Amino acid sequence: MCGIIGYIGNQDAVPIIVEGLKKLEYRGYDSAGLAVCGADGFSVVKQKGRLDALEIRLKQQPLSGFAGIGHTRWATHGEPSDVNSHPHVGQQNRIAVVHNGIIENYQEIKEYLQQKGVTFHSQTDSEVIAQLAEYYYDKELIKTVVKLSRRLEGSYALGIMCAAHPDVLVAVKKDNPLIIGVSAHGHFIASDIPAVLKHTNQVYYLEDNEIAVLTAQGVQFFNTELETVSKKIETVSWNPEAAEKGGYPHFMLKEIMEQPQILKDTIANLLSGKGAEVMQQIDIKKFTRVCITACGSAYNAGLVAKYVFERLLRLPVEVETASEFRYKDAIIDEQSMVILISQSGETADTIAAMREAKRKGAFTLSIVNVVGSTLSKESDVCIYTAAGPEIAVATTKAFSAQLTALYLLAVRFAVGLGRLTPTQAKQYIGQIQSIPKKVAEILQEVDTVQRYAAACVGYKSVFFIGRNLDYAIATEGSLKLKEISYIHSEAYAGGELKHGTISLIEDNTLVVTLATVEKLYPKILSNAEQVLSRGARVLWIGNAQTDDYGGRLVQLRLPPIEELFAPSLSVIVLQLFAYYIAANKGLDIDKPRNLAKSVTVE
Ligand code: G6P
Repeated sequence: MCGIIGYIGNQDAVPIIVEGLKKLEYRGYDSAGLAVCGADGFSVVKQKGRLDALEIRLKQQPLSGFAGIGHTRWATHGEPSDVNSHPHVGQQNRIAVVHNGIIENYQEIKEYLQQKGVTFHSQTDSEVIAQLAEYYYDKELIKTVVKLSRRLEGSYALGIMCAAHPDVLVAVKKDNPLIIGVSAHGHFIASDIPAVLKHTNQVYYLEDNEIAVLTAQGVQFFNTELETVSKKIETVSWNPEAAEKGGYPHFMLKEIMEQPQILKDTIANLLSGKGAEVMQQIDIKKFTRVCITACGSAYNAGLVAKYVFERLLRLPVEVETASEFRYKDAIIDEQSMVILISQSGETADTIAAMREAKRKGAFTLSIVNVVGSTLSKESDVCIYTAAGPEIAVATTKAFSAQLTALYLLAVRFAVGLGRLTPTQAKQYIGQIQSIPKKVAEILQEVDTVQRYAAACVGYKSVFFIGRNLDYAIATEGSLKLKEISYIHSEAYAGGELKHGTISLIEDNTLVVTLATVEKLYPKILSNAEQVLSRGARVLWIGNAQTDDYGGRLVQLRLPPIEELFAPSLSVIVLQLFAYYIAANKGLDIDKPRNLAKSVTVE
């Protein structure tokens, strides 16, 4: 959470920083601010609310300068307010800081500094960084940063400027991501690549406890012993348009529409690209169990994968949210494979789960979208999805890419275990390769979903039911809806309805029912009948034949596919359904209230 950006070069830093913040807004958007360093010290503008509010303030109070830092906030310590926004500046206006992360020992540092006469203005943990840096400052900024990083506990990615060195921007990080961008006109620090993509595709990934010293002319890296570190510059393959809306009203719709292409790319990478090589290296025979752990939608992808893996591999598969996994003393050892799924590769709980799994000797495999992210680097092996930058907070294309990667892994592993013959595997792979085309077919029919969703805006509560794989994907449908439309929703296994949920069904309650698992058609149909007979309406997603119950059941069909992979098709309908309900309600779809895309705190 929170996005930081900094620029130093020969152009005006202010528009560059504001534009970069727009690309980072998905990381937090309750307040924003920026500081530029000029001959007279820092000028800071910060404002509660969305970036638009900051832009309005900047019109009233224009700033400019060749070096600056900016921040977009997702509040953890201290409510969203002007004073709690970043950048924070020390009381002598000598050092300005932007921070992404949480300083766990901030209270102790605050008390220490208060005793020394420092006055604090905000309720944030981050202000202590600026105040402590100023307290430590003794003419040499880099030494100050080393001292600072030794004293801070917790997680941080920091952009630091000092009024006495207006031509230098310093960055340091621990447990939160930070990239350094190199362009023809200047140098950047940023929490994520889209923030700099318009200017450069040449980046360094800063490692924990490395310090970057940026000037308009160059970048140098040091460790905390102040020894020079030599780092390799990487070329990012994403193109700048990938981080633009491209004519769509929302990133979410654009990202839904991109799915045929990104699925093709993901499949190609995993069948014949680098991903294929990585998969080949894994000897599945060494493992007696598989654990999948992740957060949010990535966890839901894991739920689907459990059914697919267990059916194809006949190995026990456990799926656990990473926030639970990390503290539960999981029963895993050297014979366990722990699969971590994450779009960002930076989710704090998922990273902690990976470290816990490694500590216990398990083999860790990550499925990650962001190249160079912490999970991708620290897990034993990493398979990349090729979803490109995902900006909308509610994931769509990255989720679909994760599912596809999991299917291909399942087929490879099943072959490795001798559970599928090469011919059977080929048939399955053929089915997986057909997904992009079938997703495109669904996307051509968006009008049907759009019309149906338009009539659903008034619902206060929606239930999603399914059995087996359909239950797993129902969880994602329900999450999508509640995330962006603010309609209460729950997903249930069809058979569980009668154990409680059915008491909530009344006239005109909507029950979205997924029906793609053939052997369970009669069962899910009888669950639908149970709710219909209590006055509910049903949106029936799947090809099983059914009645329309006097117009109370509406069926949306899917292109035919091997049922193991049907979640990849039904999820497209669920995404569109959630999107159009939220769009009809006129909500801020890409940035739903209280949510952030990259959850780098516990
Ligand atoms: C947040 C996002 C979700 C995402 C989850 C896990 O809650 O809003 O869309 O599924 O984090 O993020 P990750 O980057 O680990 O996939």
